[in-house]
Amino acid sequence: MNNIDYFMLARVFHVIAVVTWIGGVAFVTTVLIPSLKNMRDENHKLDLFEQLEGQFGVQAKVATLVTGISGIYMLAFMDAWDRYLHIQYWWLHLMTFIWAIFTLVLFVLEPWFLHRWFKEQTLKNSEKAFELLHKMHIILLSLSLLAIFGAVAGAHGFQF
Ligand code: HEM
Repeated sequence: MNNIDYFMLARVFHVIAVVTWIGGVAFVTTVLIPSLKNMRDENHKLDLFEQLEGQFGVQAKVATLVTGISGIYMLAFMDAWDRYLHIQYWWLHLMTFIWAIFTLVLFVLEPWFLHRWFKEQTLKNSEKAFELLHKMHIILLSLSLLAIFGAVAGAHGFQF
């Protein structure tokens, strides 16, 4: 295999990781949280959310790592670091920003305090807590879809 093949493989793994990761975020945002919001049994609701989101957390962590490593490899291969200096590559800035937020939440904030904090909020006011959770997911999903839109167009020659 030559270097071009490694570059192509990095792109393949980048896209597969993004699909499994952002696809999962889309499912949680448009299916899981709305269904939980309609559930009446409060204890069961939190249990179910923790179980399902916990299971997805492992997948999201692996996907975040693969996305980051393959993305940095592609930048290094193309020696395209200076794209960060040009506003027409806003989609690269947005991809990196989304990656940094998810990395921070999954690897630092959630194990540190977010998990416990959310549980406390649901005990105080479950409806408000799930509403806030839904809003945050909608914002992150919208930004991710915008980054995907920009990245696919930009990577295939569209000049913004
Ligand atoms: C550290 C974080 C990231 C870095 C360094 C990075 C870097 C890159 C690079 C260098 C490319 C190839 C651009 C080109 O061929 O001109 C790319 C493509 C792409 N990235 Fe990222 N990326 C990162 C995170 C993300 C995230 C979080 C998403 C999803 C929200 C994403 C989605 C995509 C998509 C859809 C493509 C286009 C693939 C194609 O159509 O060929 N990336 N990325």
